[in-house]
Amino acid sequence: MRNDIDLDYNLAAEIIEDIKEDPMGDWFFLPDRFPAVEFEKIRSVAKRVQEDSDYLVCIGIGGSYLGARAVYEALDLGSTARCKLLFAGNNLSSRELKKLLKTLDGHDFSLNVISKSGTTLEPAIAFRVLKQALIKKYGEAEAKKRIIATTDPEKGALHDEAVASGYETFDVPLGIGGRYSVLSPVGLFPLAVAGCDIEALLSGARECKETQVSPEHLEDSMLVSYAFSRFYLYDECGCDVEVLASFEPSLLYFNEWWKQLFGESEGKDGQGIFPASVIYSTDLHSLGQYLQDGRRNIFETFLRFSPEQDSLTVPKTADNFDELDYLEDAELTKISDKAFDATVKAHESGGISTFTIEVLDSTSPHGLSERSLGFLIFFFETACAISAMLHGVDPFNQPGVEKYKKEMFKLLGK
Ligand code: PA5
Repeated sequence: MRNDIDLDYNLAAEIIEDIKEDPMGDWFFLPDRFPAVEFEKIRSVAKRVQEDSDYLVCIGIGGSYLGARAVYEALDLGSTARCKLLFAGNNLSSRELKKLLKTLDGHDFSLNVISKSGTTLEPAIAFRVLKQALIKKYGEAEAKKRIIATTDPEKGALHDEAVASGYETFDVPLGIGGRYSVLSPVGLFPLAVAGCDIEALLSGARECKETQVSPEHLEDSMLVSYAFSRFYLYDECGCDVEVLASFEPSLLYFNEWWKQLFGESEGKDGQGIFPASVIYSTDLHSLGQYLQDGRRNIFETFLRFSPEQDSLTVPKTADNFDELDYLEDAELTKISDKAFDATVKAHESGGISTFTIEVLDSTSPHGLSERSLGFLIFFFETACAISAMLHGVDPFNQPGVEKYKKEMFKLLGK
């Protein structure tokens, strides 16, 4: 563990160089060097799927699906998408898969099977089941045209099957691991199918890269300050739990993506900050008590977005039975904003250190936009890699996950 940490900008610059040179650091270049041909292919295959499918089932687990799901849910793309996304292969529940098959019944659909290794059990099983359903509905030849495989460009079971069967394919770039892959075809293809403005997603990430990690901005970089401060809180103050908090329920899967990113990147060699998450104000009525008064080994990172412009308001009533007259005509976003300030104040007074990451996007009717999410994705990916390197661990491997897979395969008699 390195103890020489205090907002040391030279060290930050060195670590950023290390990330760029790491064989698994290619995600760092996605915002500004995304291959144009690949981008066009994503758009054209997405258009084809939109034309012939009501649903695209994204089959993958961990980094192979969480990024796409995070953006899909945060932007509520399902409410406007011509072709909606469904997610499978991220658990081993027969009930879930049956439910999904029922949803597909009577609809046109395609499959996007996403697995870098091509051997992960959960997506592999779901793919078999869903492929069978696809063949039953369309016949072998048409089914093959409705399968898009996103996998290793050179090897692996899924790669080999895709080549042998002539599926459309996208590459999971060799130098990018699952949890850093949302801005690669892993996330961009399904999101494009769902109608997401993937160029805006990349441009938000580009904006983050330019303003937060370019050498001339390091000293006023919130990203660097966040990465170093969280390490300081862990190393010097014994805070080994970080809670990501926001007031927006549609960020539930963003939280899940964030937890995987930090958990798998940092939690190794007996080290790391445990990543947890809450959605307020819901969780103020469950975990709020612990946050306010429980063990003081926690710090909290708040996400705050610019307020929605067409907020609902509290209606007028003839009586005042609920005693809410003092809020008459008040916008919900304003009330939520006050609850936000009150929570930060209360938790700080309870001895919790807090960060607030404020995401403003004046080009969007509410702060949650492709651009702001692209910014945040790159923000956290880079902060996470810096943080893990401060802990002295490799941000890009996941030996613990491999262990579970080995044990499971043994028990299953593979
Ligand atoms: O971040 C990671 O590397 C993991 O979460 C993987 O994405 C996950 O285990 C799925 O692996 P694969 O894409 O090989 O099926």
